[in-house]
Amino acid sequence: LDKKVRQNNQESNNFINYKKMSENLAIVRQRLNRPLTFAEKILYSHLDDPHGQEIERGVSYLKLRPDRVACQDATAQMAILQFMSAGMPSVANPTTVHCDHLIEAQVGGVKDLARAQDINKEVYNFLSTSCAKYNIGFWRPGSGIIHQILLENYAFPGGLLIGTDSHTPNAGGLGMCAIGVGGADAVDVMANLPWELKAPKVIGVKLTGEMSGWTTPKDIILKVAGILTVKGGTGAIVEYHGPGTETLSATGMGTICNMGAEIGATTSLFPFNDRMYDYLAATKRSEIGDFSRVYAKELREDEGAEYDQLVEINLSELEPHINGPFTPDLATPISKFSEAVKANNWPEELKVGLIGSCTNSSYEDMSRAASIARDALDHGVKAKALFTVTPGSEQIRATIERDGQLATLEEFGGMVLANACGPCIGQWDRKDVKKGEANSIISSYNRNFTGRNDANPATHSFVASPDLVVAMTIAGSLHFNPLTDKLKDKDGNEFLLSPPTGAGLPTRGYDPGQDTYQAPPASRDAVSVAVSPSSDRLQLLEPFAAWDGKDALDIPILIKAQGKTTTDHISMAGPWLKYRGHLDNISNNMLIGAINAANGEANKVQNFTTGKFDAVPATARDYKKKGIPWVVIGDWNYGEGSSREHAALEPRHLGGLAIITRSFARIHETNLKKQGMLPLTFINPEDYDKIQPEDKVDLLCTELAVGKPITLRVHPKNGKTFDVKLAHTYNAPQIEWFKNGSALNTMAKANA
Ligand code: F3S
Repeated sequence: LDKKVRQNNQESNNFINYKKMSENLAIVRQRLNRPLTFAEKILYSHLDDPHGQEIERGVSYLKLRPDRVACQDATAQMAILQFMSAGMPSVANPTTVHCDHLIEAQVGGVKDLARAQDINKEVYNFLSTSCAKYNIGFWRPGSGIIHQILLENYAFPGGLLIGTDSHTPNAGGLGMCAIGVGGADAVDVMANLPWELKAPKVIGVKLTGEMSGWTTPKDIILKVAGILTVKGGTGAIVEYHGPGTETLSATGMGTICNMGAEIGATTSLFPFNDRMYDYLAATKRSEIGDFSRVYAKELREDEGAEYDQLVEINLSELEPHINGPFTPDLATPISKFSEAVKANNWPEELKVGLIGSCTNSSYEDMSRAASIARDALDHGVKAKALFTVTPGSEQIRATIERDGQLATLEEFGGMVLANACGPCIGQWDRKDVKKGEANSIISSYNRNFTGRNDANPATHSFVASPDLVVAMTIAGSLHFNPLTDKLKDKDGNEFLLSPPTGAGLPTRGYDPGQDTYQAPPASRDAVSVAVSPSSDRLQLLEPFAAWDGKDALDIPILIKAQGKTTTDHISMAGPWLKYRGHLDNISNNMLIGAINAANGEANKVQNFTTGKFDAVPATARDYKKKGIPWVVIGDWNYGEGSSREHAALEPRHLGGLAIITRSFARIHETNLKKQGMLPLTFINPEDYDKIQPEDKVDLLCTELAVGKPITLRVHPKNGKTFDVKLAHTYNAPQIEWFKNGSALNTMAKANA
């Protein structure tokens, strides 16, 4: 284990530290004296203090030392702006930035990319210069989607990575523990603070059997999402094991880990195996593969390791699934799907099929998709619905261009979009339906919340494997089941599509395509980072005010949000992405998607000082101007979705004090704490119903102490005052964040 093996081919000074990891693990083993899961091994081998760290799954806060940080361009802006305000000369841990979220799909890859480069010039310049200045690897627009680039270049078995994007777990396809975090966590690690994570529980998923025909790795996670639901993975790492894992490609395992974000899992993991070795070799990293083989014993679970929950799936019996609409855990096997379409009155006509994205754009995915398209073309038919293809990276695009899959998909009717997120994050100038018109689309993406793809709340968005997407695009109907239903060829004769085929890895190796990487220069002193004071896209940050040390009395409820309140509802993406680096401007989208329990409407709340109804951000601004703090009341799993720290920064910026809910999604809860907001939950969830939107409340912040509840005194508009008890998950250092106004203020204080 003494060998010096580089983490990747881009950086000459960063090495894989299996030696240190195994030493840490030996210390923890001695202390715990029980078999460990793979997830635990990775986490414990990255402990800041393996001797002293308290370790109890689901209870302790682990202080960890990740190997790497990765940021996408939408989240990197705020992360770097925050890092800058900590006043350090360069990042303390290997970091990369990836430009993928800001490219809108309109007419096809080349033109869309050129337009994005023009529109986002200021942001790309800021990122490129700040990366050069602070020693960060920079992947220019056009290089591909962050998670694909990480898998191709940076992921390694047993490593620990944090990324400012919720689908960071994609790197689990190479046995890396990769966790989606908010920008504030990334800033901690860039600044060499240990990174804190509540010791996750571990859910085991045992795979047996082997897939065949139309079933793909995507169907495993679609099935798991159906079993565990969007809340089921909260606070847990999902660890796959069993003989079935040996049958999957590394990229297929990546797909499964990627979409594990949809069940709220901290991350998902596969044990190191030969398929990972093959992928490492194909991406010019056999040295890492060889090194992993030396350390292989620790790159899987121990014999007898215990899981907090166990799910078993027999791959031989697994059917292809379609999940949705509106939520990724509504799983329907293809054999029951047509029935479900009828029963639920989902729009039958399929308007658009979309393949690719960070979830499903491997060489294998594209090859199988192209095999179905070729089959259709050979029968003289093409896509009936509109069809788009998003290659996950320039390397994938160049390779499938060279090997012919791209031409087939284009001949089939596909529009090839830029190597970027595009419609997956609402960057889609969709023209075929009007806003408000009910319609169905199906994608190989991972997330299908209302309005995510095209900002049309009436769009029924389904997710499936790329195979099913292509097949259904041929039929143009949600009733089509390619396993059993026939299509008509150009002469009107019936035919059944052949099951898809395709190689996992390109036999001629990957074609890297255009060079889109910018390494940081050796001498960085002369690099200057410019932020124009008149910019509407970038704004340097002002520190938030410290807590005044008092209870908050008689303050209003800005909104009582009802039902699903995801980070998309709290801080919408789409057109707002362009303000990710400008806190004041982006705050104009705060909670505009949340449903007000008072009237069932979005973005319409009553301002108690004027009695008038207005938009949520405008009302919050008015309270802030008048010096009135406010709270939000929320429902279950508030803040589920992405790692978007803006969803926490905005309420703080607009004068919010606390978000009080029935429960939180993990990342959002931590983000709120970091920004100095109080995330609190009803000890008795029914108390949510007792509070009315027009009530006033006292929040007894002075009661905040580790493990102690906080009192919320409710003054109903009509009726008697009553108290409800609120819980929180603060530990002692986190309480300092609240007191100092934010985690960053606390850091600056410590550095001063
Ligand atoms: Fe991008 Fe969608 Fe993945 S937004 S990172 S392609 S989930």
